[in-house]
Amino acid sequence: MKIRKAIFPVGGLGTRFLPATKALPKEMLPVVDKPLIQYAVEEAAAAGVEEFIFVTGRNKSAIEDHFDHSTELESALLVKGKDSALQTVQAMMKPPGSVSYVRQQEPAGLGHAVWCARNLIGSEPVAVLLADDLILGEPALKEMCEAWNGGNMVATMNVEAERTSSYGIVTPGEINGNLIEVTGLVEKPNPEDAPSTIAIVGRYIIQPSVFTTLSTQSKGAGGEIQLTDALSSEIGKTPFFGYQFSGTRFDCGSKLGFLQANLAYAFQRDDLKEPLQKWLRELI
Ligand code: G1P
Repeated sequence: MKIRKAIFPVGGLGTRFLPATKALPKEMLPVVDKPLIQYAVEEAAAAGVEEFIFVTGRNKSAIEDHFDHSTELESALLVKGKDSALQTVQAMMKPPGSVSYVRQQEPAGLGHAVWCARNLIGSEPVAVLLADDLILGEPALKEMCEAWNGGNMVATMNVEAERTSSYGIVTPGEINGNLIEVTGLVEKPNPEDAPSTIAIVGRYIIQPSVFTTLSTQSKGAGGEIQLTDALSSEIGKTPFFGYQFSGTRFDCGSKLGFLQANLAYAFQRDDLKEPLQKWLRELI
């Protein structure tokens, strides 16, 4: 079965990037010249997703504008003969009706954000992508869709033992290549309580039953409704795997991760690589 729909929770306040994110959604912060949310949307499209559902909040209208036509800008680029810029802005448009927005009225947690999209989902499995987790290399969701054979799936990576309290952590069962059977899940455990160092990264394929579970999910870590807790109650009822993706993940919710992502992505670019290398040699 194909994954046709993806949810992008973008309602977060972005407090770690103030003052930059006072009026600007954190998902619109650019890595080189593209906002984080556009990388996530492109990754979903590369995996075959056709419907893009954003769970937004107050002050997030820049995201809606970003994925809409800007007729003023497009005609100005046309008149000035800036063909490549025009192509860039036109290429990112999705077919009419394939982008939806639903509002999360309060920042009550990732599980709550995902649940807010329930009426747009119906009875099919759906992907969830967190734009903060930027993955360079092979599109992680595409890799997951290719490996997925029903049930729930989360992207996973190994983290340092002292960092478990920043992630959902997996209790691993059988490991088969990139696939890790998930036999337990806990949100943000202290290192001494963590069942492993295998962490969830922000890519999920979830069954529609997760929405039912979320509707009665009580608050968990940080006093928020956690997606991890809802997924944890699915263990044993439906197959559940972690997928160790091949790309490099940057935590763009942190300043260091965001700066590293900018450098890593700039180094991928022919127009920036050499001047950047030269400047860095002089700097260090
Ligand atoms: C969320 C999830 C967590 C996951 C993390 C990945 O946490 O709740 O399980 O490991 O994303 O980035 P957040 O970073 O939103 O606190």
